[in-house]
Order: sequence, then C-alpha cells, then structure tokens
Amino acid sequence: MPAWHAIGVLDTWTPTSWRDRPVAQQPDWPDQAALNRALETIAGFPPLVFAGEARALTQALAHAAEGRAFLLQAGDCAESFDAHGAPRIREQLRVILQMSVVLTYSSGVPTIKVGRIAGQFAKPRSAAFERVDGVDLPAFRGHIVNDAAPTAEARRPDPARLVQAYHQSASTLNLVRAFTKGGFADLSRVHAWNQEFVATSREGRRYEVLAEEIERALRFMRACGIDLEATPQLHQVDLYTSHEALILGYEQALTRVDSTSGDWYDCSAHMLWIGNRSRQLDGAHVEFLRGVGNPIGVKIGPAAEPDEVIALCEALNADRVPGRLSLIARLGADLVEDRLRPLLRAVRAAGHPVVWVCDPMHGNTFASANGIKTRHLDDVLREIGGFFAAHRAEGTQPGGVHLELTGEDVTECLGGAEEILDEHLTDRYESVLDPRLNGRQSIDLAFRIAELLPR
Ligand code: PEP
Ligand code: CO
Repeated sequence: MPAWHAIGVLDTWTPTSWRDRPVAQQPDWPDQAALNRALETIAGFPPLVFAGEARALTQALAHAAEGRAFLLQAGDCAESFDAHGAPRIREQLRVILQMSVVLTYSSGVPTIKVGRIAGQFAKPRSAAFERVDGVDLPAFRGHIVNDAAPTAEARRPDPARLVQAYHQSASTLNLVRAFTKGGFADLSRVHAWNQEFVATSREGRRYEVLAEEIERALRFMRACGIDLEATPQLHQVDLYTSHEALILGYEQALTRVDSTSGDWYDCSAHMLWIGNRSRQLDGAHVEFLRGVGNPIGVKIGPAAEPDEVIALCEALNADRVPGRLSLIARLGADLVEDRLRPLLRAVRAAGHPVVWVCDPMHGNTFASANGIKTRHLDDVLREIGGFFAAHRAEGTQPGGVHLELTGEDVTECLGGAEEILDEHLTDRYESVLDPRLNGRQSIDLAFRIAELLPR
C-alpha cells in the first residue's frame, strides 16, 4: 500500500476514474477523434520526469512543513509557444538562483526551487467565452489548447497543441537540466548571475554585497583545506518542475506506473497543483490527483472555508504524509490575515502536515487606469507580510512562496525601486496572461522575504 493512500482509495482510483466526475475548465474540443489520437500519441512518449525525483521533492517539502526548508516556486503565469528560446529559460533560471541565494544565505535553511516551467501552459478562465466586436469567441486557455489572437480560428481548441506542449516541455526540461547540472548554477558564479540591468540598480548592489560575502566564505573554506571541488552541492542545484494539472486528458496520458514502487506517478512534472477554480471536492481534478504519488498543491482562494480545506486534505493526503500536500493560499493583501488564521488553526487541529505556501499574486490583480491587467509590488509585499504575521500569531510554519516572475526587464507589475507606473505598462508587457515581477522587483522581493524569515 503506497504511503499516501488511505485504505479503500486504491479500490476505486484508476488513471481514468476522474472521467466519471464533473470536470471543470476543460476546452470544448471540436474533434473528439483527433483529441483521442493526440492523447494516444502522448501516452506512447517517454515520461518527462521520474518517480524517484518526485519522491525526493516530497522529502524536501516535508522539511518545509516543519520550517527546516523554504519553498520558492516561481515562473511564468503561462509559458508560450511563441517565446521558447534559450535566453528566456536562462533568465528565468538565473533570477530563481539569485533569489534562492538571498533566501538561503539569510535564513540558513535550504531553499527548495520549483519552477512554473516545462509544462505550465494551460490556463483556467473565469468565463468560457469572450465577446470581441459583438462576437462570442471561446476564451484563450493557454497555448496547450488554443491561441490568444481574437479570431474564431485562433481560439479553436486544437489537439495538436497537446503534442506540441509535450515537446516544448521536453526541450525546456532538457535545457533546465543542463543549466542546473552543467556549470551555470555553480556557486562560484554567484556574481555572474547579476545581469547588467540588475547589477547597476539598488537591488543589484545589495545582491553584490551578499555575493561578495559568499565568495569570501568560499575562499575561507578553501584556505582551511576544504576540497570545494569535491562538494557537488556547490556546483549543481536541483530545480524541480511544476504546473497546474488542468487538462486532465494530457495528465492522464503521462501517468505511469513506477517500476520501483509499483505506484502511479504523473510524469508530466515533479509537482502538480489544482487551481482555485477546479478544486471541487467531488470534481475530476481532486479525483485524478489523489491517486498519483507526486507532491501536489491546491490553490486556496478567499472563499475557502476551514471545513472545505480539511476535506481537501483528507481527500488528497488521507495518510498525512509530510511533504505530499502544499496549500497555496492566494487570498489578497487585504484579506490574508483574517482569512488565513482560521485555516491555519483548523488544519493544525486536524493534524494535517501541510506546507503552507503564500501566492501573493492571484489575489492582487487589478486593471490599471488604462485598462491593463497588473499587480502592485506593494500589495505583493503586503500579502506576504500578512501571511508571515498570521503564522506568527498561530505558531505555525510559513513554508514558502509561489510567484509569477521573469528575470527579464519587463514592465508588467507596478512599483519597485525603479517605480514602474501606469504609463510604463505598455513599454515591455510580454506576458501571455498574468503580469509578472521583473528581475529587479524579484530580487527586491527576495530580500524582503529574507527579512521575514527566522534566522
Ligand atoms: C495561476 O496560478 O496562474 C492561477 C490561475 O491561479 P489560481 O488558480 O490561484 O487563480
Ligand atoms: Co497566473
């Protein structure tokens, strides 16, 4: 019996048992035969990740549940089929590495790095249709489904995109593995990660000071006769992949039995999460993910009641395996303290060992004065501050953060030391969907989070 299954669960769960449940947020695929062919094709492809890697992440997350590690989960809101060059992936990785150095150096506990990367294509939408020039078009659901252009042709769900999403995930993951294991992530490059546009800024200079301290510490250890070359932890990092498990046919096609343990794993990514719009207790997404062995997350919006959250814990982690379940609260800066505290109390009282993660992005989105979807860095900081304050008040552990960011110099979120204003939003707004923090805002944020972490 696998560790995360309660007695009885295995009697009813299969990789297809979700198909008997109401399923939220699926595209209306016009050609079922083409859909089935695409899914069969993917089912014949190799897994993208291995079960042993997913288990290693569960173990690392178990430490985060106890305050002995901190999760940094970050990346694009949605990856794009149109922007798939190496620089984009490298910049994403670089800013995650920089943030992780800031967090680890300040807190003294390991930073668990999980990208919203190599598979983060599918998007839930508030409405199934969008009215453009008096015509109702299917909503854009991410490049794994359709294209964002406002025409009927572009918005038509196309199963060939499922196959393309697999291939793009594979090539992204290939580069991520090369970057993390092949020298780019070596700690001796801690200075070199500071890109030009960050290095000259206030945040960048603060980072330089920290990088210099780390280099001095490395020199000291070398002088003491410690063989740094023989210490792989200084030369390589683990960067895990994650995405919202939204399009369940795709996830099913990549769900395989692990030959070591005999258990089922969703091999599309190391960690999968259920979005705030598809976390219905009797729904297909909860049914599907309860049966796979990966570490999983659930987004928790402001409408979630304590009973509901406990029921999700029971359904998804009945055996209370530490590290198996992360609850990713996205409550909004104004509501976070009031809404979070009853949830923290209820989960603790129920004895569920969850990783509490703060997503300070999705509860703080608004339209700018000129109608552009944005977020303000001050709100992001306020929500994180409220998240930490709620944990302090309840005596529970803040386990990590979940962010939408890029290392690039975009202008999508307001605020920060360079003070991005309404009128700058159109300068370099490149996100496929939600606005991301740019490189400078991200480094700034890492220092602010580091100040909140216990030392
Ligand atoms: C997201 O993470 O991009 C997202 C849509 O989040 P949520 O489900 O919390 O709204
Ligand atoms: Co988003």
